[in-house]
Amino acid sequence: MKVIVTDDYEIMSREAAKVVAAEVKSKPDSVFALPTGGTPLGLYAELIRMHKEEGLDLSKVSTFNLDEYIGLPLNHESSYHYYMYDKFFNHVNVSEDRVRIPNGLIENPEEESLAYEWAIKRAGGIDLAVLGIGRNGHIGFNEPKTEFGSLTRPIYLAKRTIEANARFFGEDPDSVPRQAISMGIRTIMNSTKIILLASGAEKARAINQTVHGPVTEMVPSSVLQLHPDCTLILDEAAADELEPSANGFVPGPGTRTMIY
Ligand code: F6R
Repeated sequence: MKVIVTDDYEIMSREAAKVVAAEVKSKPDSVFALPTGGTPLGLYAELIRMHKEEGLDLSKVSTFNLDEYIGLPLNHESSYHYYMYDKFFNHVNVSEDRVRIPNGLIENPEEESLAYEWAIKRAGGIDLAVLGIGRNGHIGFNEPKTEFGSLTRPIYLAKRTIEANARFFGEDPDSVPRQAISMGIRTIMNSTKIILLASGAEKARAINQTVHGPVTEMVPSSVLQLHPDCTLILDEAAADELEPSANGFVPGPGTRTMIY
């Protein structure tokens, strides 16, 4: 597993944007899995800058979001539909007919999940999955004890995740949905490439377990040790509990790379 440790959140976001941009340049019709949450905000801002100032062309990419809450109206300010258009899609030239986010309002979430898997297959599979990580090691909304063989499906959020997400629900933290539709672990692991971003001390333990811990369904992100092309892009605080690596090098200012 490759780990890029950066001096701060801004450099982390820029490093992640470079990976995304390189993917688009080498394959303009790349298929992405995309996260929401606090962590990727800097990445989306940097991609918007690259689009506006450097002509990064996203017109042929396809995107699949990792997850969406069940039961929130699409225009609800805390829905992931709203987030993705507000923070990213409205500011770049991603084509709307190539954007897919699970529909958490549909009557039959199982059917929606199946259709989502088929849509990913029809698009040719995911070329690059961009992930965040929960404090409990969740990726997408695959909480501890999720089977590694899982595909897209409706899930119940862990109590810790509901508490962590309450910050996005302003005045009414009790309104955080309890259920979501999430890509499964196998869906994510089938991606050709994966990058996982983490920032801040509250992620340090989960990152330690992801890199050094046993591969166990109790820490869903630990499965990434088994992926042939996975890179963690971290800030210093998130990397704080990592053992030093014998295979380290410094590729440029503000970053160092370690191979585990
Ligand atoms: C969201 C997602 C989650 C988040 C994780 C971290 O689409 O898939 O796994 O990446 O909960 O969230 P933040 O970045 O808000 O700490």
